[in-house]
Amino acid sequence: MALRNGPDEFGLVTRVIHWTTMLLVIGQLALGLRLSDMEPGLANLWLYGLHKTIGFALLALILTRIAWHIVSPPPPPIGPRGPAFWAARIAHWGFYILLVAIPITGWAGSSATGIDVMIADRWTVPSLVEASEAGEAFWFRLHDILTKVLLALITVHMLGAFKREMEGDGTLTRMIRGRP
Ligand code: HEM
Ligand code: HEM
Repeated sequence: MALRNGPDEFGLVTRVIHWTTMLLVIGQLALGLRLSDMEPGLANLWLYGLHKTIGFALLALILTRIAWHIVSPPPPPIGPRGPAFWAARIAHWGFYILLVAIPITGWAGSSATGIDVMIADRWTVPSLVEASEAGEAFWFRLHDILTKVLLALITVHMLGAFKREMEGDGTLTRMIRGRP
């Protein structure tokens, strides 16, 4: 089983990163939505910590993925270079940008609260911005908007994958077992 991507195949590394990211992103969206309905307090502070820790794991994962794709470029979408091809390309780029921007806006919003931002309750990361209520409102608003864009993109991406698989081009099979 090849670790690297081939000209027409997804290698194991890309596939493991893809499906791990999917699980973490879905959990993270659900957890974030719960948090936005809560008032932070002693009883639920661990949930905020969990969300931040998973968020940093996702940031590390997307940076690893981008670096890996420079070392081992993924295959282009299946089919001719028509609208579906470019839609897939744009969606993939959208994911790379959002999965970097969303953790950074969450990190900036959390820094603006003036409370130390920690990974796994253990490592304190540097503050990205000065503490201020206006900054907190601004960065969390941006975090919120970008997560809604991510949710919309995931929906379109999933529907596109299922549609193409049902048409029989093997797009989904290729992301599961490497080749169509
Ligand atoms: C890809 C990674 C991430 C995803 C998908 C994500 C998703 C979300 C979502 C959907 C919300 C609810 C937004 C709303 O309805 O207002 C949220 C809230 C929040 N996120 Fe994230 N997040 C991520 C990373 C992070 C990181 C890295 C941090 C901090 C270091 C963070 C801190 C927060 C906090 C503190 C809230 C609650 C904001 C409030 O009280 O309104 N997030 N997140
Ligand atoms: C939920 C978060 C998801 C994210 C962030 C995401 C992101 C991506 C990205 C960036 C790519 C381009 C290749 C790569 O960088 O690995 C990709 C490819 C792919 N994704 Fe997802 N994905 C998600 C969920 C899903 C789901 C739920 C499905 C299927 C039901 C799916 C099916 C596929 C398929 C079939 C490809 C290959 C497309 C091709 O051959 O051009 N993805 N995804």
